[in-house]
Amino acid sequence: MKGKICGTGSCVPEQVLDNEELSRMVDTSDAWIRERTGVVRRHIVREETTVSMAVSAARRALENGNVSAEEVELLIVCTFTSEVLLPCAACEVQKRLGAVNAACFDLNAACTGFMFAYNTAQAYIASGLCRTILLIGSESLSHMVDWEDRGTCILFGDGAGAAVLRSAPGEPPVSVMHSDGAAGGALTLQSLHSGELPQRCHGTADLPEKPAGAQNGYIQMNGREVFQFAVKKVPEAIQEVLTLGGTECGQIDYFILHQANKRIVESVAKRLHADAGKFPLNLQEYGNTSSASIPILLDEMHRDGRLRRGQTIVLAGFGAGLSWGASVLEW
Ligand code: COA
Repeated sequence: MKGKICGTGSCVPEQVLDNEELSRMVDTSDAWIRERTGVVRRHIVREETTVSMAVSAARRALENGNVSAEEVELLIVCTFTSEVLLPCAACEVQKRLGAVNAACFDLNAACTGFMFAYNTAQAYIASGLCRTILLIGSESLSHMVDWEDRGTCILFGDGAGAAVLRSAPGEPPVSVMHSDGAAGGALTLQSLHSGELPQRCHGTADLPEKPAGAQNGYIQMNGREVFQFAVKKVPEAIQEVLTLGGTECGQIDYFILHQANKRIVESVAKRLHADAGKFPLNLQEYGNTSSASIPILLDEMHRDGRLRRGQTIVLAGFGAGLSWGASVLEW
């Protein structure tokens, strides 16, 4: 059996921060951001949270797929920016949806999260463990970027996307997943606890101290390193799934890539000798929404009719870890 996406949904915050406004906050310009990244504006949470956006996106996906919350057997939230760690965001979403029959967990593979969750869902369905799975990518990255660091704050935005998978006859999609922890220093986010040996204080108890230092709690990135990693590894992974599945590049209707940077997407198209028109972009509107970017784009394309049943599409994600993966599937 394979999992077929039968419904999609998304939710982005109402508040918009465009490049002009951003260039009044840090030393940058609309022209620089557009040229180097393709981003024009991003949506930023005000009242919304990672969990609330996840719930809205999930409701829309369930409605779109004509699936009730009670039918969901597995609910995965991909995130590293949830306002709640215990219980996991997925359990909070379950509670608000009334998805009472679902097992719930979060998956953190940063911007590759949705890709890895999609493959996880396929494995659960292929094994017969589950028939109906709800996948959500939801991120409030605006809480994790240093708004004084022009090298990172221009890139990211907030939002959520969701997809419902139902089991259907047929072979699961061909997928590959990769991680390289040794190269992980290129893109990091330290937890607010230091992980270092606790300082002895207040009597005999060893209590952890909150670390000082601006690097804690903010995304740190070597932009060039991440860029070079993405433009090398993403086409390799796509070529890998195409070869494994015996699919020609020309047979692909759409390459739906994680929306990090227009130049990365264009470079992947070029390296694959593929038609750039088959690489849809919406990062100009949302920036990089990490694990939410692929399901938001899927939702847009599903609703506006670009995605049609029977088409062959490639999904590809990449990000911190470093991690990356791709899948070729029939829509
Ligand atoms: N506005 C204006 N100038 C900026 C700037 C900004 N927002 N950010 C950096 N610069 C400056 C740098 O200080 C540097 O100046 P210098 O030449 O005087 O030293 C110059 O622009 C070039 O910096 P560089 O970092 O080499 O730019 P770049 O072309 O690599 O673009 C990124 C920077 C971040 C846009 C690019 O590296 C990138 O997109 N990388 C991938 C990041 C990513 O996608 N991460 C998430 C993956 S999931």
